[in-house]
Amino acid sequence: MVSVNQERTPRKRTYLMSPPEHFAVEYAINPWMDTETPVDAGLALKQWEGLRETLAGLGHTVHVLPAEPGLPDMVYAANGAFVVDGVAYGARFRHEQRAAEATAHRAFYESGDWGFVAPSETNEGEGDFAYLPRAYGGLILAGYGFRTEPAAHAEAQEVLNRPAVSLRLVDPRFYHLDTALAALDDQRITYFPGAFSVASQKVLAQLFPDAVLADEVDAFAFGLNLVSDGRNVVLNSESTGLAGKLEAAGYTPVLVELGELKKGGGSVKCCVAELRP
Ligand code: ARG
Repeated sequence: MVSVNQERTPRKRTYLMSPPEHFAVEYAINPWMDTETPVDAGLALKQWEGLRETLAGLGHTVHVLPAEPGLPDMVYAANGAFVVDGVAYGARFRHEQRAAEATAHRAFYESGDWGFVAPSETNEGEGDFAYLPRAYGGLILAGYGFRTEPAAHAEAQEVLNRPAVSLRLVDPRFYHLDTALAALDDQRITYFPGAFSVASQKVLAQLFPDAVLADEVDAFAFGLNLVSDGRNVVLNSESTGLAGKLEAAGYTPVLVELGELKKGGGSVKCCVAELRP
């Protein structure tokens, strides 16, 4: 039974996605990628379309950034920038293979009604940044340890005028913050404690005593790599355990099939950047 104070309110969102038209596993920059495993490009595209339609069907606006040849990871649009209050803090990729994606994202923001700030520090956009507009008056959570440099957390704080809390990731399977932690609504998160250093686990427990805790099975199924509108939580279909926990907490899980994209080390959230006006 969901009590009244657990009733969850959805809010209309604006997202950016990029189709996996050139998706492949041509290099391995995270433990999930294996260049020997074949990728079904047609199926990847079909699954991606399913995700796009699901988000649009929930009433959200989805912008599409055209895929570019030679950028097989561009489908993971979350990495292209981090947008808060209409300002996009641009990405600067750790790996050379993905560097040019930042340019495509930058062009998108500069051609629209968004502010754009070019980064000096290495960071992979929303892959390593999350935003909670109603936690502590507006809080940025920021991951480091594998991709984004802690100096970028400070830079994001300066650019976006919100406090950024640095969290250290310690397990290479969870190399981006968004593989281990997600915002469920404006103030609540879900996360897998084991992906973080002991000190960062304590910080999270202090800031978010009401978090939905995920276990290793949930995290390994990429369950935390989810997109929520405050009530509807879109997550991949393998994450049935986490779906149950979210339902018990008053959210509505919406399962999508995204198995081909997992071969690149990503799932729902990796494919979706949230554009916060
Ligand atoms: N193959 C990509 C990489 O290793 C996957 C990125 C996943 N994106 C994310 N937001 N976690 O960079």
